[in-house]
Amino acid sequence: MDLNQELPEGTVQNVLDQDTLKWVFVGGKGGVGKTTCSSILAILLARVRPSVLIISTDPAHNLSDAFQQRFTKTPTLVNGFPNLYAMEVDPNMENDDPLGSDNTDGFLSDLANAIPGIDEAMSFAEMLKLVQTMDYSVIVFDTAPTGHTLRLLQFPSTLEKGLDKMMSLKNKFGGLLSQMTRLLGGGDEFAEDAMFGKLEGMKDVIEQVNKQFKDPDLTTFICVCIPEFLSLYETERLVQELTKFEIDTHNIIINQVIFDEEAVESKLLKARMRMQQKYLDQFYMLYDDFHITKLPLLPQEVCGVESLKAFSSNFLSPYQPSIVRGTIEELEQRILILKEELKNAETELERLGKGKQKV
Ligand SMILES: Nc1ncnc2c1ncn2[C@@H]1O[C@H](COP(=O)(O)OP(=O)(O)OP(=O)(O)O)[C@@H](O)[C@H]1O
Ligand SMILES: [Mg+2]
Repeated sequence: MDLNQELPEGTVQNVLDQDTLKWVFVGGKGGVGKTTCSSILAILLARVRPSVLIISTDPAHNLSDAFQQRFTKTPTLVNGFPNLYAMEVDPNMENDDPLGSDNTDGFLSDLANAIPGIDEAMSFAEMLKLVQTMDYSVIVFDTAPTGHTLRLLQFPSTLEKGLDKMMSLKNKFGGLLSQMTRLLGGGDEFAEDAMFGKLEGMKDVIEQVNKQFKDPDLTTFICVCIPEFLSLYETERLVQELTKFEIDTHNIIINQVIFDEEAVESKLLKARMRMQQKYLDQFYMLYDDFHITKLPLLPQEVCGVESLKAFSSNFLSPYQPSIVRGTIEELEQRILILKEELKNAETELERLGKGKQKV
């Protein structure tokens, strides 16, 4: 017990207490429970914050599944909450031309679009810009599986580099470029200026957001995983990348943990439990300065607001098997029964003993 007391508390209470937080990212490998965990975090945050927005940046939107309500790319109030909104955006949307097709086609926008990842980056920036003007107290991101998330977080730097390149090109060859643009039949000078204006504007947003993402008072990343080798490995990779991008992370949620009582009967579950324990030990060893929250594997899916709410108790107090959860009365009852059984056994023994003496 003493050992446990030295570890950071095993709940996400720290996230709810940190009232400066503006951006909360939830990420991890596919299928480990990111959507479930981010939805529950958003529900819990909505209890302590004036307004919360949860955004899914996963092209395979599943907030709608978790909340059993349809969401679109505009924030919609989640049924049953006065202050919790949800939206689903697709960073790969092809028809969303972030540079604007408003007369800026042509050589320059082709050039801009040639910067790797710029499309996705621009839609992400547009979305962040929009969300920033909406003034939510905190924004929770249900991100796509790991690789994709990291790419999104890299966008501010990708874009900044791309834009710098563009600006220096414009300064060097500005006149020539506009002549070429006209020659190649692309937009006119006004359109070109409009596009540069847009890029400049975007750059400001990106610089701001970049600064915010790197500020641990404003942004944190919560890693969700399961107690298995691949997930441990991916989590370590994620934590290292986040450190490289200077993005704060100090919470790990280990989902789908099989607790003792479930395994009592089944050999298979017992074996899985032993395997899980090995990786749980490694998580605790590797991340002894993190808040590690363990969530039980349920027999059923976590679907709909009521299930999410019921499951949320595990985010606030460490899971306890029902044997420990039992009330004192239940335990007293069990002791009485055991005493009774003991007494019966003693009487039986005595009877047998007496019988022997007679023989
Ligand atoms: N502890 C749990 N016990 C039982 N079922 C769970 C648990 N956690 C999540 N689930 C279920 O597992 C499925 C996957 O969870 P979820 O959608 O949250 O994962 P995800 O990481 O968001 O997946 P994806 O990478 O596909 O977006 C869902 O049907 C969810 O209800
Ligand atoms: Mg998901």
